[in-house]
Amino acid sequence: MAQGGIVARYKEPYRDFLYREMFARWGQMDVLARGSGTTVFSIDRVPRLLREIAQDPPVFLMHLHPFSHTWAVTAGPETQQTILQQVDSLAAGMRRSHCWTVQAHVLGERLPFDLTQAVAERLTQAGLWVDPTRADHALSLTVLEGRAFMGVSSLAENVSRWSGGVLFYQKPAEFISRAGFKLEEAVEVFGISLAQVTSALDLGAAPGGWTKFLADRGVPTDAVDPAALDPRVLANRRVAYFPVSAQTFAARSMSRQYDLIVNDMKMDACKSVGIVLRLLDRLRPDGQVVITLKLPQKGFLQKAQAARALAEPYFRTVRLKHLYYNRSEITLYAQRAG
Ligand SMILES: C[S@@+](CC[C@H](N)C(=O)[O-])C[C@H]1O[C@@H](n2cnc3c(N)ncnc32)[C@H](O)[C@@H]1O
Repeated sequence: MAQGGIVARYKEPYRDFLYREMFARWGQMDVLARGSGTTVFSIDRVPRLLREIAQDPPVFLMHLHPFSHTWAVTAGPETQQTILQQVDSLAAGMRRSHCWTVQAHVLGERLPFDLTQAVAERLTQAGLWVDPTRADHALSLTVLEGRAFMGVSSLAENVSRWSGGVLFYQKPAEFISRAGFKLEEAVEVFGISLAQVTSALDLGAAPGGWTKFLADRGVPTDAVDPAALDPRVLANRRVAYFPVSAQTFAARSMSRQYDLIVNDMKMDACKSVGIVLRLLDRLRPDGQVVITLKLPQKGFLQKAQAARALAEPYFRTVRLKHLYYNRSEITLYAQRAG
């Protein structure tokens, strides 16, 4: 055990954006190892960094885990024994009151055994409660460039509770569009409690993946789009359809108030935020907003920052996050003051 740090995971085309953001906030960091979508940073004050990241995660950081143990890994017959000895030394200090999961990630090496399973079995033998479906803490282990990096953390500290931030949502029986997954992920990532949402407005709703996601969870939803909604979404009694542009809808005088405005409109990101700002008088105090910012390849980050700057004066919280299901997009989340 020589040094500590974090293992950061991200989508590969956005590595430089992530580095820029992290170095601007925490200064230059030493890179100990790097592989596809993964960088191991050496850091002195890991607990403080984890706290700051949990409060305001970097836009392009999909997942992280801290490490406190690192050692050389060779793919020989003794590898499993060496790893399990290291696991034993960590397990001695792991709390019995937590529920644990094992998240292992092996890049560029081939280990002759199932690492996740071997470590999970070892923890169970050590008397720890291991259940990935109920876990609140993780033992994480990344093997990269001939070294292992291992540590423990609460799942809340890891940015995403899913290893690497990789999500696989089940297609619902009536599948409308892949776009639906983006809202599902945004609800989880930004901690939106749909049970408290009594009405929602969906701008750029067609064919209806987002509207269906909300209506299926009991939220009465007004869907706005000049393009057609899928008939299965239209048939839902919680859905009201307005076949007009968002600009026309915003210009109408209506008394209806919303707890949540979502917007997946395919248009310039600043224009899209501007339309939501015109609807602010229909967003209740504490109301929340989710906007997919559609971004150009050139000036990708600048455009996202310009859209954020437009929104900032009107909200208590504004966050940007590149979601697993985002492509040339970033998701903006905002919440009004109460
Ligand atoms: C990516 S799709 C939305 C997908 C939708 N969220 C879903 O889950 O099915 C983008 C939509 O934005 C709509 N759109 C573009 N400009 C618009 C505007 N000015 N007003 C309303 N909708 C608009 C398009 O018609 C298109 O249906």
